[in-house]
Amino acid sequence: MARSSFLKTASVLLALQGLSTGQGTAPSTTVAAGGTATAFRPEFTIPSAADEGADLLPNINDPDAVNAQDVCPGYKASQVKEDERGLTAVLTLAGAPCNVYGNDVEGSSNTSWFIPPDMITRPQAESSFGDIDLEFNSGDEPSFWFSVTRGSTGDVLFSTEDTKLVYEDQFIEFVSTLPEDYTISGLGEHIHGLKLNSNYTATIFAADVGDPIDRNLYGSHPFYLETRYFETGSGNKTTPVKKSALDPRGYSHGHHVNHTRGHGHENGHENGTGNGSGGSPYESYAHGVYLRNTHGQEIKLESESLTWRTLGGSIDLFIYDGPTQPEVTKQYLKSIDALPAMQNYWGLGYHQCRWGYRNWTQLREIVQTFKDFDIPLETIWLDIDYMDQYRDFTLDPVAFPPSGVNEFFDWLHGNNQHFVPIVDAAIYIPNPQNASDAYDTYARGNESGTFLTNPDGSQYIGAVWPGYTVFPDWMSVNGQSWWVKEMVEWYKEVPFSGFWIDMNEVSSFCVGSCGSGNVTLNPVHPPFALPGEKGNVIYDFPEAFNITNATEAASASAAASSQAAENSLTAVPAPSTTSYLRTTPTPGVRNVNYPPYVINNVQDGADLAVHAVSPNATHANGVQEYDVHNIWGHQILNATYQGLLNVFPDKRPFIIGRSTFPGTGKWAGHWGGDNASKWYYMYFSIPQALSFSLFGIPMFGVDTCGFNGNTDAELCSRWMQLSAFFPFYRNHNTLSANSQEPFRWESVATAAKTAMQIRYSLLPYIYTLFHQAHTTGSTVMRALSWEFPNEPQLAGVDAQFLLGPNILVTPVLEPQVDTVNGVFPGIIDGESWYDWYTGEKVNAEAGVNTTIQAPLGHIPVFIRGGAVLPTQEPGYTTTDSRKNPWGLIVALNGDGDAEGSLYVDDGESLEPTESLEISFKAGDGQLKADVNGTWKDTNALGNVTILGVFDGIGELKLNGQSIGNGTVDYDKDTGVLKLSKLNELTKSGAWSASWTLSW
Ligand code: GLC
Repeated sequence: MARSSFLKTASVLLALQGLSTGQGTAPSTTVAAGGTATAFRPEFTIPSAADEGADLLPNINDPDAVNAQDVCPGYKASQVKEDERGLTAVLTLAGAPCNVYGNDVEGSSNTSWFIPPDMITRPQAESSFGDIDLEFNSGDEPSFWFSVTRGSTGDVLFSTEDTKLVYEDQFIEFVSTLPEDYTISGLGEHIHGLKLNSNYTATIFAADVGDPIDRNLYGSHPFYLETRYFETGSGNKTTPVKKSALDPRGYSHGHHVNHTRGHGHENGHENGTGNGSGGSPYESYAHGVYLRNTHGQEIKLESESLTWRTLGGSIDLFIYDGPTQPEVTKQYLKSIDALPAMQNYWGLGYHQCRWGYRNWTQLREIVQTFKDFDIPLETIWLDIDYMDQYRDFTLDPVAFPPSGVNEFFDWLHGNNQHFVPIVDAAIYIPNPQNASDAYDTYARGNESGTFLTNPDGSQYIGAVWPGYTVFPDWMSVNGQSWWVKEMVEWYKEVPFSGFWIDMNEVSSFCVGSCGSGNVTLNPVHPPFALPGEKGNVIYDFPEAFNITNATEAASASAAASSQAAENSLTAVPAPSTTSYLRTTPTPGVRNVNYPPYVINNVQDGADLAVHAVSPNATHANGVQEYDVHNIWGHQILNATYQGLLNVFPDKRPFIIGRSTFPGTGKWAGHWGGDNASKWYYMYFSIPQALSFSLFGIPMFGVDTCGFNGNTDAELCSRWMQLSAFFPFYRNHNTLSANSQEPFRWESVATAAKTAMQIRYSLLPYIYTLFHQAHTTGSTVMRALSWEFPNEPQLAGVDAQFLLGPNILVTPVLEPQVDTVNGVFPGIIDGESWYDWYTGEKVNAEAGVNTTIQAPLGHIPVFIRGGAVLPTQEPGYTTTDSRKNPWGLIVALNGDGDAEGSLYVDDGESLEPTESLEISFKAGDGQLKADVNGTWKDTNALGNVTILGVFDGIGELKLNGQSIGNGTVDYDKDTGVLKLSKLNELTKSGAWSASWTLSW
């Protein structure tokens, strides 16, 4: 039934009438207040048991678990109404209820018992219906199913046929078949390779946890990209090629393929023609899938299927037809109204942070030392150390006294440098028995009713760094305006440039409202030792430390074993678990604390309440945290964005946040969280970044040199160079680990400066990429397979990446090597690559791993043929850089052509009234700059470097005027033509008018 309904956007909303909500009991842990201290600031430590929950056995690990597909009846559709958008029908259970992990939903109204709030933008149908290349089908045998097919090829992209739809109040399951050896990316936030393998379950539940591999993390992104590769010209577009069957070394030559589908390459790259090397015999089609659902969930990937399970909500599923990755990402981001935030120019400079900067004096010394070493520093950050007893919107009166503020900031701002503080999600609740413990931020929030409550209406009190805390309720009437006001007021004391929002999963260091009844103990110590506190000393070093630093390695390991011996005296043996808590559905009632279906949450016991605000915490509108946990982080980032707009009207807010959700990218960037100083974390930073490209949060970077543990010179050198090509570039370190600013080692300082020199030269290019992302939804960091969609061999490549379409980075990701292997994509289709450092054309074969020289201190970087890259001479800060002469690198493709673009504005206005857009086009020995816009920039054009000029040169002219000889440096063998000292000819500014350069 219901075949051939073309959809405007293929969206499937299966929303059934719900049952009344029930409330469980609070899993609160009451702390015994024995030995209550009487002195001010009692040093009471929350017992570690307070953060222990129930022992649950995740369903996917439970050999006795019931498979819902075996026992549930599925649904039958009736009252089917078809319209041009698809169909509406009433679903009724096709048999006896199974109530397998909740209560089966059965009803006649098209409402679900929990639908995400409006702020989670629901994609809308497109106006031009016919343009969507998707076909929706459904049927009723043996029970209701639906499928979405690519209309033009007949390829089935998603199909639940022959599986059962399970729709319960605490459990939803739908299953889709997939082709063998599929290529899926996304489903975050996880630390995982770019390509998600079959036999992997992606759990989605916002968690405060230090970057475990393959487990749920801070953010929630129920979105994936799937790419299917086909043989070109075979006529078969429904059976994708199996990548395992391909020759890993490359392609068979001889086919010449006419790539007719036009993959819409940005920046003018056209594959499929060129130097006669043959052309790839493959092509690909990509689509995207987004489930608009805020519940805890998991996606189980098996060899030929995926099973999507959620703990509630609805199946509000959107399919994007692509057919390329750039198109999928743009369609997705536009549909959720979340084109990425435009970044400030300064945000692209280098950021230094650490947990453990102790006072204004030390902070100033750090900033000054960067300057002394001539290592560019744009922004200095402070972690929780600056706060008065870890309370938001305060300053430690001793270490960071308000009296030191003016001196520090006058100096910092005078250097054109910036400051970003951490601000935590939780709000300290003062000790009611101690008048001097009063905390105005809490008092104002409390008065305006902005904190989460328990089901009985009392305040929900968890614990974070400052002790017992409460948590803003973003669904309350005054929550956002209270936060905005706190920010505005605090700015009067501390002139920050942006905000770093942490712990917004939202994290809490104990299960349930553990502070209820205990607030008179506040301030209390968290239930675990902070890094560096006794019993928690950091001795871990990167894997090759014992080779590169033999003596220190020996002493560190001796110290570590004596520490371990000491700890073992007090260590409590782990309890052996013999039984797990299992719950079964109760008719009419949801068990939000212990839902019958157990997702594989990363926290101890898989309990949803461990290390997070518990599921039964209640919002002002009655919604339980259970239903909206995954968007708490998204909401505080929205509130912070509004706050910064109030502090800096008309300026772009700069925010880096930890917990994100679909759409967060329009407000904030993200850092990868608490990684460690290990080589594998440096590698994983690449796929993590690429997944955030797909999620529309391009402003991404990780804690360079590693957060947990001690780094060493070799790792830090490689990492400072790698991160220089990430959109967000920050070095951050945990409390009490060895210092790791790049100036701590001469070799790291030199390596960092080398890479920063490239980054700062390329700032105009990176800024232009952000402008494109902001206006079109394109990505900044890119996987090779997204730019070269005709090469199935690139599908999982994530040890290399592209910055925009034109810069290829092939970093060293392992210790003790001088070379790295990398592929040069696109060569099969005539692409050429140039070495960044020499400008020479790379001699590489299609599809073959090439060994590249990469001694310590050198990061291999290549420029794509066909690109015109705008550059600017690097200064110490981005403000200085913006006053320097411009440059251009013109890398000619096989046909002698190149093109590119440049976007310029004031670098900070939310909606600039004046800007410049320059497009560059090279060919036939000429480069034309076509200047549009009204923004005035008076910097001259310093130099132009043209790569790939092998046919000799003629007379060099700018706008017909001859360029003097002293300005030309040409090497016919390498094909590098350098024109310098053009300043005189472009005195009124490189972009004051359009021009033509000929050679
Ligand atoms: C969290 C953050 C980390 C920060 C620490 C102390 O672990 O992820 O970046 O340094 O808290 O505030």
